[in-house]
Amino acid sequence: MTDVPLQKVIVTGAAGYIGSHVTYVLQKTRRYKVISVDNCHNSHPQVYQRLEQIARDELPPNPSAQDLDSTKIEYHNVDLTDAPAVRAVFEKYGKGGIWGVIHIAAWKAVGESTQIPLTYYHNNVSSTISLLQLMDEFDCTRIVYSSSATVYGVPPDIPIPETTRLQALSPYGNTKIMCETIIKDLCAADPKRWRGLSLRYFNPGGAHPSGLIGEDPVGKPNNLLPILAQMAVGRIEPTLHVYGNDYPGTPDGTCVRDYLHVVDLAGGHRLALDALSNDSKIFPPGTSSFYKVYNLGRGQGVSVLQMVEAMRKATGCDYKTEIVGPRKGDVPDLTADPALAEKELGFKASQSLEAMCRDLWNWQSKNANGYMK
Ligand SMILES: NC(=O)c1ccc[n+]([C@@H]2O[C@H](COP(=O)([O-])OP(=O)(O)OC[C@H]3O[C@@H](n4cnc5c(N)ncnc54)[C@H](O)[C@@H]3O)[C@@H](O)[C@H]2O)c1
Repeated sequence: MTDVPLQKVIVTGAAGYIGSHVTYVLQKTRRYKVISVDNCHNSHPQVYQRLEQIARDELPPNPSAQDLDSTKIEYHNVDLTDAPAVRAVFEKYGKGGIWGVIHIAAWKAVGESTQIPLTYYHNNVSSTISLLQLMDEFDCTRIVYSSSATVYGVPPDIPIPETTRLQALSPYGNTKIMCETIIKDLCAADPKRWRGLSLRYFNPGGAHPSGLIGEDPVGKPNNLLPILAQMAVGRIEPTLHVYGNDYPGTPDGTCVRDYLHVVDLAGGHRLALDALSNDSKIFPPGTSSFYKVYNLGRGQGVSVLQMVEAMRKATGCDYKTEIVGPRKGDVPDLTADPALAEKELGFKASQSLEAMCRDLWNWQSKNANGYMK
């Protein structure tokens, strides 16, 4: 059988938590060559060696030269706000040389974004504009963008469909709405060339089952799952501050989120690339703007206390909880309606909460200090 040439895809943020799992999924297809652009602001370059190891371990017997090539990651330690450095990556392949971009890199701490909004707008929005300008110049006009459920603010209905009005409550959330809007406008302005998909992630958790890659934020974690994992491994005190326990309409008064396994989430990106390769299903005849948005979630809400219990079962850690006042900007319930992504992309986050907690613990217990030994 003759090998089909690998399609070159830039993954921004490939060293990060979600980006590394997306890279894993793309390597596994053995159809894409991943070119990472990441400045490792919130990640560790060790991740690349581990990804290559997983990809080699999962190769079939007697791999072809192209199979072997797909396991290798080309990585550029580049800040996306540094346009000349990003340009050098595109120049290496020339016009039309890169098939598409999965744009994952961003800063994501909601609280921090309220303190340094300009820095967030620069890092997340200016970099996206600059990336899109380079893509346009180099005839690379397919983009999959990492958005977030945070764009919905306080949604009027649960589960949340994509048609819900957008009303983010933080500069971080606004950066997501702005980037979505810019990509949408670009696709509308130049429908012969541009194709864009925004994926609104709900709450990813877990890790690749090998335990070789996982979430390893630089500094103190901000999200519930890495906090519980680091507590269980003894990196932080096992007393969890629970922000509010009298939210209306949730099972125990604590906030509800829609957690999905990060490998399932990563699989959504492969489906998004498939949809862009053969786009008549998502853009039927008569379509005028080639841009779409999909929620990626499980469609099942889990409260903070339910998650603590699930992690207790997985880790055996005797977590203590302390109820403190609600946090400004927290929303009672963010549960996705994932029906559109299932219908049009064939996406289904099928892994259970137990699998997510088990794989998270497998990663954290094997890597107590993350990528730093
Ligand atoms: N983790 C979540 O719960 C969640 C939920 C919804 C949406 N998202 C979005 O998903 C994306 C990835 O999130 P994550 O959890 O993997 O975060 P992460 O911090 O682990 O990964 C982001 C990566 O982007 C890189 N990066 C950031 N700014 C950069 C820049 N200017 N130039 C080059 N690289 C840069 C970081 O170094 C990091 O490796 C982000 O866009 C985030 O907003 C995350």
